[in-house]
Amino acid sequence: MDGNGRWARAQGEQRVFGHHHGVRAVRETAEGCAELGIGYLTLYAFSTENWNRPKSEVDALMELLVQTIGAEIKTLMDNNIQLLAIGDLDSLPAKCHAQLNEAIKITSLNSGMKLILALSYSSRWEITKAVRDIAHKISEGKISYEEITEETIHNHLCTAGFPDPELMIRTSGEMRISNFLLWQLAYTELYITPVLWPDFNREELYKALIDFQKRERRFGMTGEQATTK
Ligand code: FPP
Repeated sequence: MDGNGRWARAQGEQRVFGHHHGVRAVRETAEGCAELGIGYLTLYAFSTENWNRPKSEVDALMELLVQTIGAEIKTLMDNNIQLLAIGDLDSLPAKCHAQLNEAIKITSLNSGMKLILALSYSSRWEITKAVRDIAHKISEGKISYEEITEETIHNHLCTAGFPDPELMIRTSGEMRISNFLLWQLAYTELYITPVLWPDFNREELYKALIDFQKRERRFGMTGEQATTK
């Protein structure tokens, strides 16, 4: 969800103004995906690197998260969406962590789309933690190093049990992955739009999905193999 700061600056406003307007795009995207029957939507809301931003912006973002999560529980319930979170959640301010846990609990029986917030998340942090956890199990004799497979690694990531993303949408035209789901995105289709996040809406979501539907997903096979599979 990139481009909030630039969107605000273009209007002569503070960066935080863009984050506030980004909430509408979050709601519209989540509702739009849920209506279409999409199973999983992961939103990269705050990276581990984002902690290095000015304290005033970090504080405002954390406050916005608390307010938005609290205010949007009804939207989640109305759309049968289950809220989940990935990242170093213990590093979040206590108020934010508590609000998140409450929303996760309230929506836990919803059977529709899973909305996963990536908060204080980075893929290198996640992979480092997975390696440490696997090494710990080896040191305790719970598994041997010969037994490590791709599935072992999948099972130690924050996204254990979730399917790999089929499509990654990045707004604001930046041609980067920015430490997001590096393992999981191995064969994900990328869609990069110049639209800034606060301007992202259902129409832009549909454009991305229509573009995705035209892709030939080959997973390393030949085009012929992929179409006859
Ligand atoms: C990136 O834009 C955006 C963020 C770091 C924050 C995203 C947060 C929200 C949209 C608020 C609410 C979210 C949820 C899930 C409740 P940027 O600030 O890096 O923009 P720039 O590249 O133009 O500076």
